[in-house]
Amino acid sequence: MKIVFVGTGYVGLVSGVCFSEFGFQVTCVDKDKNKIALLKAGKTPIYEPGLEEMMHSNVEAGRLFFGESLSEALSDADVVFIAVGTPSRYDDGYADLSYVFAAAEEIARSRKDYILVVTKSTVPAGTGQKIAEVIRKANPNLDFDVASNPEFLREGSAIEDFMHPDRVIVGVEADRARELISELYRPLKVTNTPLLFTSVESAELIKYAANSFLATKIAFINEMADLCEKLGANIIDVAHGMGLDSRIGRRYLEPGPGFGGSCFPKDTSALAKMAEYAGTRTRIVEAVVMSNDLRKYHMAEKVFEACGGTLHDKTIAILGLTFKPGTDDMRDSASLVIIPELLRAGARVRVYDPQGMNEAKKLLAEGDITWCKNAYETMEGAEALVLLTEWNEFMRLDLQKVKKLLKIPLVIDLRNIYKREEMSRMGIRYVSVGRPPA
Ligand SMILES: NC(=O)c1ccc[n+]([C@@H]2O[C@H](COP(=O)([O-])OP(=O)(O)OC[C@H]3O[C@@H](n4cnc5c(N)ncnc54)[C@H](O)[C@@H]3O)[C@@H](O)[C@H]2O)c1
Repeated sequence: MKIVFVGTGYVGLVSGVCFSEFGFQVTCVDKDKNKIALLKAGKTPIYEPGLEEMMHSNVEAGRLFFGESLSEALSDADVVFIAVGTPSRYDDGYADLSYVFAAAEEIARSRKDYILVVTKSTVPAGTGQKIAEVIRKANPNLDFDVASNPEFLREGSAIEDFMHPDRVIVGVEADRARELISELYRPLKVTNTPLLFTSVESAELIKYAANSFLATKIAFINEMADLCEKLGANIIDVAHGMGLDSRIGRRYLEPGPGFGGSCFPKDTSALAKMAEYAGTRTRIVEAVVMSNDLRKYHMAEKVFEACGGTLHDKTIAILGLTFKPGTDDMRDSASLVIIPELLRAGARVRVYDPQGMNEAKKLLAEGDITWCKNAYETMEGAEALVLLTEWNEFMRLDLQKVKKLLKIPLVIDLRNIYKREEMSRMGIRYVSVGRPPA
C-alpha cells in the first residue's frame, strides 16, 4: 500500500517514518522547500529522539521519500493523510482550518481515481464533512472517502507512542475505507492495540476531549499546589495520595509552570469555542484555559517575590526554555510569558536550553537576554536560578558549583526536581512549587 503525508511537521514526519518502518511505501510532502531539502539531505528539521536513525534506515530501504509536489506523490497512492497545522485562529481561538482545506482542495485537483483521505491533524467535530464538501466542489467526479484518525503522540517520546499506542481511533463511514485503515494498522495487532472505529465526528471530538481532560488534570494540580503553599501542605504527598486512587491515576499530576506546547493550549481553547458555536458551554475547559494562562504570570510573580519584591538590576539564570524536555518545540511554552515578565520588571536574564535555543532566539528577540552554552555558564554572576524545564542534564547539577556561582544563592525550582533537604544542607535558599520551604 502506498501512503502520502501532506505536511511533514512533528506529526506528519513521525507518522510517515513509522508507517515506512511498518513496511509501507511512504512519501512525505511539504510545501516548505527548506524542510524538504533538509530531509532529502538526511537531516530532520525537528529534534525527536530516535527519529533521524529510523528515517535513514527506511530511506535506505527504498520505502521512504520526500517531495514538494503533491500531485506527483499522489499519482499512485492508495491513502493520503492530511497532517498540516491547525493553530489557534487569531480572533477567536477556534482551530484555523485554512491549511486543512487548502490541502483537501489540492488533493482533489491532483487525483482522478479513488483515494482515501484521512485527517491526522486535530480538527473540530464536523470538519470531515466540510473536507468532503471541499473535495466535491474542486473535483465533482472524484471517488473518495474521508476518515478521521487523530494522532496522540507526545513530542519527546513520539516514536514509542506511535509504535505502542494505548489505542488507535478511527472515524469512518464506508466499509472500503475501514478495510484500508485496518490494513494500515495491522502491524499493531501483534501488540493487541485496540483499534476503535467510530463515526467521523466522534473520532474528531475524542482527540479534543482527551487533550482537554489531561490539561484539566494539570491545571487542577497546579491550583492544588497553590493551595498547599497557603495551607502548609505538600503537593508531592497530596498528588501521590490522589493518584493512588485508580479512578484518578498518577499521571499528569505534577505541578509546574503551566502547560504549553503545540496541543494543549490550542486544543482547550478550540474545544471551548467548538462548544460555544454549537450552542452549549464547556465551562470546566474555559476555566482551565484561564487558569493556565494566569499560571504563567503567577510563576513570574513567584520569582519576583522570591527575589525580595524587586528584580531591578538583578540577573536571573533560566534553565530550560522548551515546554517540556525531549523536544525543541517552543510553541506556547511558559518561558515565553515568564521571561518577558522578568525583563519588564527590570531583570537581566541569562538562559540555556539543550535543544530549544534556535527557536527561542526567534521568539524572544527583545530585551537583555544572554544566550549561554551550558547550565553553569548560565549561572555566572546571577542572583538566582530558575529551573523551568526538567531536562535530564538539569536533574543532577553539582550543587557546590551552583552555590559558588549564584550570588544569593537562590534556586527557584518550578518543576520540583530537587529535594528541599539537599538544598538546605548546601545552604541554598530553595523555592519550589506547592511544597513548604526547607
Ligand atoms: N505536535 C504534536 O505533538 C501533535 C500531536 C498530536 C496531534 N497534533 C496535531 O497534528 C497537526 C500537525 O501538527 P504539527 O505539530 O505536526 O504541525 P507543524 O506545524 O509542525 O507541521 C505542519 C506542516 O504542514 C506543512 N503544510 C501546511 N500546509 C501544507 C500544504 N498544503 N501542503 C504541504 N504541506 C503543508 C507546513 O509547512 C508544516 O511543515 C495539528 O493539527 C496538531 O494539532 C500535533
